[in-house]
Amino acid sequence: MKPQSYAPRVDHISRLKIGHAPHFLMCPPRYFGVRYRINPWMDPEAWSKGEGSLKAEAEQQWTSLHEVLTSRGADVTFLRCKPDLPDLVFTANAAVILDGVALLSRFRHSERQAEQPIVAAAFRRLVEQQYLAAVFELPPNVTLEGAGDCIWDRHRRLFWVGCGPRSTRDAGSVIAACFGVEAVSPELADARFYHLDTALCALPTGELIYYPEAFTEAGLREIEVRVEPSGRLALTHEEATQFAANAVYLDGCVLMSRCGERLRRELEVRGIEVIETPLDAFWRSGGSACCLTLRLDHSSYGAERVSCAAVPYATASA
Ligand code: ARG
Repeated sequence: MKPQSYAPRVDHISRLKIGHAPHFLMCPPRYFGVRYRINPWMDPEAWSKGEGSLKAEAEQQWTSLHEVLTSRGADVTFLRCKPDLPDLVFTANAAVILDGVALLSRFRHSERQAEQPIVAAAFRRLVEQQYLAAVFELPPNVTLEGAGDCIWDRHRRLFWVGCGPRSTRDAGSVIAACFGVEAVSPELADARFYHLDTALCALPTGELIYYPEAFTEAGLREIEVRVEPSGRLALTHEEATQFAANAVYLDGCVLMSRCGERLRRELEVRGIEVIETPLDAFWRSGGSACCLTLRLDHSSYGAERVSCAAVPYATASA
């Protein structure tokens, strides 16, 4: 695959159906469950014991998340759920997206590799529907679990690419070539924080919510040399294990499953509102708010992209 063929172009974007509202991809949790164990949060036996009530709780919590997003002005496109793919609900893992270009994921574990053809077909439809301009695949042997391990930092105009437990270190150079932006790869060190989005959240206002203990020493340095101390919001162990880093930013507020008083104050003094939307049924699979969403309209062009938007966006199904 030739890196230069990747380069996103502004004229691609100006032809897309991008409205002014943030646009997310979500997958209803009808088939969600904990059926295997690929991270330490997952306990299939405990899940099957409480399955009836846990499934209902997951449905209700996902619906509330969807409602909060739409009530705050977001558009949501649905990925069709499929039996036997319980983790498809975590759309953050489907792809990395910037400027109308999607780079499809390759999963480390065979349990999730079965999602890849489903996601590829859905993304082809998103191109046909003009929500995306182009879809690329990873070179052979590179593993990258989508936006779950690749976080767009609009403030610094770079991607943070988690590596270690899931995505391979060489994913960073593929991201840089594909999207033409800097990619920084802090290494993850703790099996409970196996995806970068379980331990780091880059707010477009410049603040970084992160859990220092989730990273190797070198990984932590990569972060701290790029983020000034006043912009670092380091999580406690308790906050991190309540998935506080797995947050979604939307127009001046952050959505997360649970936010203690300390963190809420830290965010509020910076003018950031916090909305709690409980998602603990998904913690049982190692996921929370950010994992359940994939932002389709991330842009490196800032306000320019918004001024290109011509065609109104309507909710569709992928
Ligand atoms: N059970 C899923 C897995 O281990 C959870 C994925 C959560 N997604 C995320 N973006 N962190 O792969």
